[in-house]
Amino acid sequence: MTDSSVRKILVTSALPYANGSIHIGHLVEYIQTDIWVRFQKLRGHECYYVCADDAHGTPIMLRAQQGGIHPEELIAGFNAEHQADFRDFGIEFDNYYSTHSPENRTLAGQIYQSLKDGGHIISRTISQAYDPEKQMFLPDRFVRGECPKCGAKDQYGDNCEACGATYNPTDLKNPVSAVSGATPIEKDSEHFFVNLSDFETMLQEWMSDSKVLHPAVKHKLNEWFETGLQAWDISRDAPYFGFEIPDHPGKYFYVWLDAPVGYMASFKNLCDKQKLDFNEFWSADSKAELYHFIGKDIVYFHSLFWPAMLTAAGFRKPSAIFVHGFLTVDGQKMSKSRGTFVNARTYLENLDPEYLRYYFAAKLGSGVDDLDLNLDDFIQRVNSDLVGKIVNIASRCSGFITKRFDGKLAASLADSELYQSFLDKETVIASAYENREYNKLVREIMALADRANQYVDEYKPWVMAKQAGEEAQLQAVCSQALNLFRVLMSYLSPILPLMANKVEDFLAAALTWKPEPLLDHSINKFKPLMKRIEQKQVDAMIEKKEPEPEVEFVDYEDFAKVDLRIAHIVKAEHIEGAAKLLRLTLDVGEEKTRNVFAGIKDAYTPEELTGRFTLMVANLKPRKMRFGLSEGMVLAAGPGKKEIFLLQPDDGAKAGMRVK
Ligand code: 2FM
Ligand code: ZN
Repeated sequence: MTDSSVRKILVTSALPYANGSIHIGHLVEYIQTDIWVRFQKLRGHECYYVCADDAHGTPIMLRAQQGGIHPEELIAGFNAEHQADFRDFGIEFDNYYSTHSPENRTLAGQIYQSLKDGGHIISRTISQAYDPEKQMFLPDRFVRGECPKCGAKDQYGDNCEACGATYNPTDLKNPVSAVSGATPIEKDSEHFFVNLSDFETMLQEWMSDSKVLHPAVKHKLNEWFETGLQAWDISRDAPYFGFEIPDHPGKYFYVWLDAPVGYMASFKNLCDKQKLDFNEFWSADSKAELYHFIGKDIVYFHSLFWPAMLTAAGFRKPSAIFVHGFLTVDGQKMSKSRGTFVNARTYLENLDPEYLRYYFAAKLGSGVDDLDLNLDDFIQRVNSDLVGKIVNIASRCSGFITKRFDGKLAASLADSELYQSFLDKETVIASAYENREYNKLVREIMALADRANQYVDEYKPWVMAKQAGEEAQLQAVCSQALNLFRVLMSYLSPILPLMANKVEDFLAAALTWKPEPLLDHSINKFKPLMKRIEQKQVDAMIEKKEPEPEVEFVDYEDFAKVDLRIAHIVKAEHIEGAAKLLRLTLDVGEEKTRNVFAGIKDAYTPEELTGRFTLMVANLKPRKMRFGLSEGMVLAAGPGKKEIFLLQPDDGAKAGMRVK
């Protein structure tokens, strides 16, 4: 390859959220991308694959709060977990970073400033659901209530899972905040919007190039153009985990503003580590190629918002966006109750990652169709193709070379025409890789594998080995077969990098694209390359498992610090505007009574509480709440509503009794 034909390529996969584990549904995309990147590298191109955790947003903030940790701690934990999962699936990033990074803050700020300078940011006051108890605006997913259309209970604020209706959170009947249980109120706030329609002509022109988007995706975009491009709300109010908007304290960039910028930030971080030229890849006149692999659910962000942001800030636009469909298992949506919602780690505990890499490759085309992991077909296909066809060539021939020829391959090819016919498939296979038609190239390679096995069957080395005077032929046939095997493994190496490494060790030679035959060359003893999948491994993987409760142990020393006492409820009252809280006046055997707010309104009326005894933490630091100072905490256990347990007045309890 001459230097001028070396392409510079930057590739990304969508950034996974930093509050959940990677599952096999995610893996379709990372495996698809990793195969593509490995192919480009194998062909000698300068290709970089970057990714990061998508670390901002309300769900991440709330999840950290629930766990009693800082969001930084939460995202660090998931970052480590994600990286380990990807590594163990053979997914090799050149850089894996986080959107919560200084590079991302700078770049997101720069892009926002450019949008603003270009006059593309507009401000509007909007009214939104607000949790008066938690004092925060609620994203649609955090408001729940009855569907305005069919009346189904406990539906999300944006759509009904029962009847499929879509609506606004304000349309829900009897809405509650999923965060605190309070009834949301409507509250006004100023938001900033990107005026997307400013970019319509640019976007139309960009996507008119047939290479940029698959026709099915382009079709979807045309529909959006027809409905008209809506201004995009890019700000969120505090409290929010994200980047504060530089000139607007208390306002934050919406997570989707800085998420795609995370691609750039991860690459910037790589450039700084490896002394690469960032601008060579991102300047408006860049000659480098930029590709984003994404799922069909996030096309809007990548094909409308993202090119608009890049253009406004004087950066280049993506060369193409590669969109894939979703994963189904046995024809159905992945499901926890069916056991088919399989986390990456659960898979790895039961099965070889390359089985899945191969199976996905065998089914992936360039379109947006969903991909089905049919578990019976998975077992059958991996066993028959990889173990039965590919590995079989080597395992049938290598023993003779080792035992009879001291590991030495023959000095010339027995059938160089056959070898050449394998190399001749290179163009078809390369273009299928390039166009992400992996299903097509797997078919080609398996047809070649059939041909190689036929060759072995024709000459039957195991028979030759028993005949006198056929030594040279035996060596020639086995050497031919092993050379064919090497070509096949070179073709497959982007899909099966771990097996490819083992094969390189075995053959004591690199797997290169279109390899010269190995002649008069010493190989190593053959070791099993891949085991057959057993049904029981798959059964174990999809066995329905109850999620293990997360136990966080407390040291005895910490527990001993808690002053638990019996409190007598002297008075219990409603509080105006509070959905769950009651105000309790407690006698804990001190001179002064204590004022405590307790969220037990669902379970008791004030009348039922007055006169009862309860357990309380007497030395909890007083907390200022919206309705006043709370001086302690009452302890009540139970799933909520009616089953919260308090002591009866006649249980012999006395105010102030210490409990331990
Ligand atoms: O949909 C998602 O899972 C997002 N976290 C993807 C972000 S991709 C990019 F834009 F950051
Ligand atoms: Zn409904």
